[in-house]
Amino acid sequence: MASKPISLGLIGTGIVAAGPYRKALERSTAVKAGGLFDPDAAKASALAEALEVRAYPDLDALLSDASIDAVAVLSPNHLHVDIALRSLRAGKHVLVEKPVAETVEEIEQLEAAAQRAGKVCMPAHNYIYNPSLIRAKRLIGEGRLGTVASGWILYNIFHPEEIACHYGGVLREVCVHHAYSLLFLLGKPAKVSAQLSRVHYHELTCEDQAMLTCTMPGGALVHLWASFAASDPTSDPWTVVYKILGTNGGIAYTWDDARYDDTGGPAWGIPNYLDGFYQELEFFVTQAIRNGETPLSTLADARDAIRIIEAAESSVAKAGTSVEVHY
Ligand SMILES: NC(=O)c1ccc[n+]([C@@H]2O[C@H](COP(=O)([O-])OP(=O)(O)OC[C@H]3O[C@@H](n4cnc5c(N)ncnc54)[C@H](O)[C@@H]3O)[C@@H](O)[C@H]2O)c1
Repeated sequence: MASKPISLGLIGTGIVAAGPYRKALERSTAVKAGGLFDPDAAKASALAEALEVRAYPDLDALLSDASIDAVAVLSPNHLHVDIALRSLRAGKHVLVEKPVAETVEEIEQLEAAAQRAGKVCMPAHNYIYNPSLIRAKRLIGEGRLGTVASGWILYNIFHPEEIACHYGGVLREVCVHHAYSLLFLLGKPAKVSAQLSRVHYHELTCEDQAMLTCTMPGGALVHLWASFAASDPTSDPWTVVYKILGTNGGIAYTWDDARYDDTGGPAWGIPNYLDGFYQELEFFVTQAIRNGETPLSTLADARDAIRIIEAAESSVAKAGTSVEVHY
């Protein structure tokens, strides 16, 4: 007999909730929206109406509802840890958006709280849940590529100033995707050198481009690139591209293998982007909550991703000098 869908509370009903999460919930039979909360009552009631669920008046009301099994923390970054801790204490499983936290210590608090509660706390590291990257990891692990020599993870998606300001600098906002992807595919880099630049925008005072070169323990060099400054409209676009080359083979994966017009929100017309959310949510409810399996990217990976970003920040402060990553 099929099990009852997991009931998911959405905490935060902004761009990512109303776009990818709503689409993923509408596709899934394993999980259904159980209710939501956002202090912005207009946004909350619009999404509650679309999903046909209740908008709770405050977070405690949502968390004290026993019919909600799990929550997705989709609030602004600086609130993730507090909301995730409160949710774990209330006995909910937690899926928490990236960047999960700002510091290593905060991640350690989450790990301890999840263990105490006996609940799943899974980073929403959506990019790696795409089947192409899961296969890439398997091929690399099986040694099919031989000795890995080099890698590239690139992101070029222009963001209008209003949206760029909303998210802030690409190092913490986008390169965190690259950092957890690198950890997933190839493991922990030993050193990082980094450069940041701002090409345009008036209000945005932080970087709109970031470039990191990671040295892996075996000597492989992996290039991480993120830009809100320009899209790539050429015939061989580098929108989001992963390429790993080894002595015996290589893998390439791109978000450009299928596209359609959807101006509803950033990257909503890119199926590989949306599939990552869909597969991630399925994994959260089916493998992690129901079967007790370890997420493909864990809180320990979120912690190491912060360490890579912090090493990059330290390299930037030293004019791009290569800096060791301390684990
Ligand atoms: N994984 C991805 O690919 C991806 C893509 C976009 C955004 N994100 C992440 O998702 C999160 C949300 O991003 P967004 O673009 O939807 O932002 P957003 O600003 O559009 O939405 C955030 C929402 O949280 C609400 N909020 C504020 N305080 C709150 C509180 N105390 N409790 C509950 N809700 C509160 C805001 O009113 C707003 O509606 C961010 O952490 C962002 O980094 C991830």
